[in-house]
Amino acid sequence: QTGMVTIDEGYVNTGAVQSSVTFLNGEEGVLRYRGYPIEDLAANCDFVEVAYLLIYGELPSEEELVKFRGKIRRHTMLHEDLKSFYDGFPRDAHPMAILSSVVSAMSTFYQDSLDPHDPEQVEVSIHRLLAKLPTIAAFSHKKSMGQPFIYPNNNASYCENFLQMMFSVPCEDYEVDKTFVEALNMLLIVHADHEQNCSTSTVRMVGSADSNIFASISAGICALWGPLHGGANEAVVNMLTQIQNDGGDVDKYVDMAKDKDNGFRLMGFGHRVYKNFDPRATLIKTSCDKLLEKLDIDDPLFEIAQKLEKVALEDEYFVKRKLYPNVDFYSGVIYRAMGIPVEMFTVLFAIGRLPGWIAHWREMQLSPTSRICRPRQVYQGSTKREFVPLDKR
Ligand code: SDX
Repeated sequence: QTGMVTIDEGYVNTGAVQSSVTFLNGEEGVLRYRGYPIEDLAANCDFVEVAYLLIYGELPSEEELVKFRGKIRRHTMLHEDLKSFYDGFPRDAHPMAILSSVVSAMSTFYQDSLDPHDPEQVEVSIHRLLAKLPTIAAFSHKKSMGQPFIYPNNNASYCENFLQMMFSVPCEDYEVDKTFVEALNMLLIVHADHEQNCSTSTVRMVGSADSNIFASISAGICALWGPLHGGANEAVVNMLTQIQNDGGDVDKYVDMAKDKDNGFRLMGFGHRVYKNFDPRATLIKTSCDKLLEKLDIDDPLFEIAQKLEKVALEDEYFVKRKLYPNVDFYSGVIYRAMGIPVEMFTVLFAIGRLPGWIAHWREMQLSPTSRICRPRQVYQGSTKREFVPLDKR
């Protein structure tokens, strides 16, 4: 059996599938969605436009975009019984636990859109997911605050609506800061897809068993939660806060990260594919700089992050291993500036990554050659043993 199978722990050199959704070149720091560089998309599009591009493969015409927006807006509210689902969670439930549970529960509320082989049902489920993720996320934040849920506003843009649901309260007017809308739009776009990362591969794996799209996306949310993956944006801010509380001594933490025994890693650094800068980190860092300056905020964590980057990029250990800041390193500083609580950071990553997960799930479902994912192994356990009855053990 060993002759048949080669082991590739973590799939470092294993290609699972052929895909046309996203191209990335780790050596050159290139990332393109359906051939378009993310720099161009982040500078010129809004997130719903990029979601359409990823899912259907082409930039939408004005008419296609208006129709797509309209279809999404019809589904922004949650079924009222799904709303009461939140009463069952403890106040301090992690919003990623709520997100994955509510998305999975959508497969019981929206049974008219579960068939992965019925194009109409797939379309409705796509609109429902894109429409409801921001609502589910904002409701989980309101739950943690003990504040009333704010219903979606279909006259607002995707990002504006999300920020309104997050921060407005019934007793006061709330004006969304346009700067925040722009920053959020850019962040969601640069998070929208990243070829066969851990959570997208999970969505494909679960979908390959013909599980419905809500179950597949819920599994992706759980994979993203991990601190080695999307959960890193939350872990970065917690790490920067720890360094700040420890007198801002970045050298101490860089040294700690080099010492294998203590299991400490610089969160937000390193990447399986990027062995040069992560183009998203570059975009986010620039936007972070501009946003903080515009809002006249000098977040000490941003200073610490920049110091940490400088020290690490000049350190032999990091240079040798080609460890650079990744997408998660600066994103949290922007979320903080917008007033997003740290436990919501990975939820925002999920909202951004949703179109990518959907695009890959759909590509897999439409592919005539796709089949259930079922890897093999090399067995290293015991050879055949005689059974020993309980009274003889
Ligand atoms: C995301 O795959 C994607 O595309 C993911 C993502 C996406 O858009 O979907 O880009 C989003 O998940 C970004 C990554 C977020 N995670 C973190 O920031 C957590 C910290 N980073 C690491 O844990 C690590 O770099 C990973 C998880 C990102 C990559 O892991 P790999 O490819 O398995 O690399 P590795 O663990 O084998 O590390 C290689 C070497 C090791 O040292 P040696 O054994 O060779 O001596 O580099 C070291 C590691 O110890 N190393 C680090 C480090 N990351 C790697 N050392 C200190 N600090 C780090 N952050």
